[in-house]
Amino acid sequence: MSQTVSIAVCPGSFDPITNGHLDIIRRASKLFEQVIVLVIINVDKTPTFTDNERVEMAQKAVAGLPNVTVDCFNGLLVDYVRKAGATAIIKGLRMVTDFEYEFQMALVNKKLLPYAETVFLTANNEHQYLSSSVVRQVARFGGDVSGFLPKEIYGQVIARLCPERQGANGLQ
Ligand code: PNS
Repeated sequence: MSQTVSIAVCPGSFDPITNGHLDIIRRASKLFEQVIVLVIINVDKTPTFTDNERVEMAQKAVAGLPNVTVDCFNGLLVDYVRKAGATAIIKGLRMVTDFEYEFQMALVNKKLLPYAETVFLTANNEHQYLSSSVVRQVARFGGDVSGFLPKEIYGQVIARLCPERQGANGLQ
């Protein structure tokens, strides 16, 4: 009997990766044998952090999760999913406002690659309000985002968005 490894892809802009993302990834890593965090290079968006920075920060954040890897891709998500041998796409759902957009993407992806299932994990209560754009905004104006970000990347995010705050909270 042939054995297949269950592989899930968790796509996003990760600009930057937040504690909300990390919570979803950690929970997905318990459901699937391998999880690939896929940093999407979206030509329609101009990210704050470069592709390399977003990949590097995601790698630092998931370093403690042995069955999680990070990759970067420019193209249709389903093409990556097919090539990676994955059968699931992981998405985190926060407010109900996420749902309409995510539902549409799930339906499009299902149409393009019918065997791949989109699996929605609901964000924990403390992450319902959290997004990369919230982190960027709060950080730029000097607000404390140490509770929003994996500690491994806090210094890097602050150095870019609010250099005058560097060294606060004892982190570099
Ligand atoms: O973190 P984001 O920006 O909300 O993630 C959106 C993302 C990157 C998952 C989505 O835009 C995506 O899958 N882009 C890849 C292009 C694609 O496959 N589009 C068709 C799905 S509608």
